[in-house]
Amino acid sequence: MTPEVNGHARTLLTDRPELYEARFPDPGRLAGRWAEDCLRRHGAGPRVLDMGCGTGRDAAHLHGAGRRVTAADLSEPMLAYARIHRPGPDYVRADLHGFDFGPGVFDAVVCLDSALLYCHTNEQLDRFLSSCRRALGPGGLLVAEMRNGAYFLGRTDLLDSPTDAAFAWRGAVHRSVTTLSVDRTAQLLRRTRVWSTGDGAEPVEERSAWRLLFPQELRHFLTAHGFEVLELHDGPGPSTEPLWHEGLPPGRTADADRLHVVARAARH
Ligand SMILES: C[S@@+](CC[C@H](N)C(=O)[O-])C[C@H]1O[C@@H](n2cnc3c(N)ncnc32)[C@H](O)[C@@H]1O
Repeated sequence: MTPEVNGHARTLLTDRPELYEARFPDPGRLAGRWAEDCLRRHGAGPRVLDMGCGTGRDAAHLHGAGRRVTAADLSEPMLAYARIHRPGPDYVRADLHGFDFGPGVFDAVVCLDSALLYCHTNEQLDRFLSSCRRALGPGGLLVAEMRNGAYFLGRTDLLDSPTDAAFAWRGAVHRSVTTLSVDRTAQLLRRTRVWSTGDGAEPVEERSAWRLLFPQELRHFLTAHGFEVLELHDGPGPSTEPLWHEGLPPGRTADADRLHVVARAARH
């Protein structure tokens, strides 16, 4: 089983960024383009913090769009990979559960692909949002994209049976079997993933979890931390079916499996 370091669930993918990119390719840079579109539509200034930046592909896209980007992650292998392969942004180690870059130093914080849901407890969510609030100047934006906890109310399709995936990487076929379960007490979606390479090596089991956040609960957290919610919807977005593309307006419901949020730090 993979260890936890300082509350950060390390996984094979956060330890091996090349494998992460092979497993979850984003050749059209959809997540970065979607985030940039939100920033532009709401008139955000140039200084952006990407929290949970992973391999840096979204941060690099925002940098290429002319933004001054600081990109943060807790995983040293992710940061090392991003510095080499996605130059431009300033890569730093920081924890979603509480960070401090100084007051009002950013015009926007982006947090993509469910990174926000690594805040498992209410206290971690509170610390994340007060850190964002401090980092943002008045009128600054928070843009986030994540799983939608409400999707699991009355639906079991993602829970019923394990999901198999296989992909080739450096000449070896990597297989993963992923099982999801709902921990109602902790309000977490727990994931067990077993990796095997078929070369005789022992399979590796890793566990991680995401907070199951409901749309109205998220709205309440944001409002309590001094944010005005501008958009909160289930798509179209970078991981929806059908996919988002430039020109599509934000949705009006919060029923499907992804949530998209744009919130503005209230002006004092
Ligand atoms: C699913 S990846 C998303 C990466 C990137 N945003 C993307 O969309 O490709 C989640 C990232 O969050 C990072 N992460 C997990 N827990 C974290 C924490 N407590 N603080 C900062 N980063 C964290 C992981 O190391 C990983 O790089």
